[in-house]
Amino acid sequence: MKPADQLKFGPIEAKLRDGKVATIRPLRTDDGPALTEFYASVPREDFRFYCPHELDRAHAEAHCAAADSPHEVVVVLVEPESPGKVIAGYAWFRWPDDEAKASTFGICVRRGWQDCGAGRALITRVREIARILGPAVMDLTVQKANPRAVALYQKMGFKIVRSQMRGNYMGFEPEPEFAMEMRTRDVEG
Ligand SMILES: CC(C)(COP(=O)(O)OP(=O)(O)OC[C@H]1O[C@@H](n2cnc3c(N)ncnc32)[C@H](O)[C@@H]1OP(=O)(O)O)[C@@H](O)C(=O)NCCC(=O)NCCS
Repeated sequence: MKPADQLKFGPIEAKLRDGKVATIRPLRTDDGPALTEFYASVPREDFRFYCPHELDRAHAEAHCAAADSPHEVVVVLVEPESPGKVIAGYAWFRWPDDEAKASTFGICVRRGWQDCGAGRALITRVREIARILGPAVMDLTVQKANPRAVALYQKMGFKIVRSQMRGNYMGFEPEPEFAMEMRTRDVEG
C-alpha cells in the first residue's frame, strides 16, 4: 500500500471474542523478522489451506520489501503489548497492475488466535480498504475441506462462482475447491 494510503488506513483496534484486544495495521517494510517468525509458526495442517508460496524467510522479506507497493494491500493483526513483534494474523489482496480487473485475496491466522474473530476482523478491515483501493473484484480459492473459511468468506460477502479441482501443489494431493469472488465496491457493513 502506498505510504499515503497506509496513513489513511492506519492502526485500528480489534476486540476479539476471547477478550483479547489487538491492533490491525498495514504491513511495514521493517516487519521482516516478525513476518518470518509468523510464517514459521504455521503448522502443516494450516499450510495445506494457506500455501500461496513457501512460508520462508525469503518470501517474508520480499513481502515486507514490497509493503509500500501501489498494487498490494497487506494488513497484520498484532498484539498491542508488543506492537510489531508478534504477528497473529495476516491478510492481503494483490493485483498485477493498474489495468487489472481483479485482485487475489489471502488470509492466515496464527494457531492460538483462531476462532476468536481475528479472521472476521481482518476481512472487515480489508473490505473497508478495498472499497477505495484496488480492482472492483476480489478473487480467492478455498478448499471444500476448509468449511470454517468457506463459511466466513460467505458471511463477509464472497460468493461461490465455480467448483473446481486444486492440482497437486506444494506436495499436497489434488482436492476439490471453490473459486469465490467479492464485488468490493458493493459490500455492506
Ligand atoms: C480460516 C481462518 C482465516 C479464519 O479465521 P479465524 O480467526 O479462525 O475465524 P473467525 O473466528 O474470525 O471466524 C470463524 C467463523 O467461522 C465459523 N465457523 C467455525 N468453524 C466452522 C465450521 N466448521 N463450519 C462453519 N462455520 C464455522 C465461526 O462460528 C465464525 O463465524 P462468526 O464470525 O459468524 O462467529 C483461520 O482459521 C486460519 O487462518 N486458518 C488456517 C489457514 C486457512 O485456512 N486460511 C484460509 C485459506 S483459504
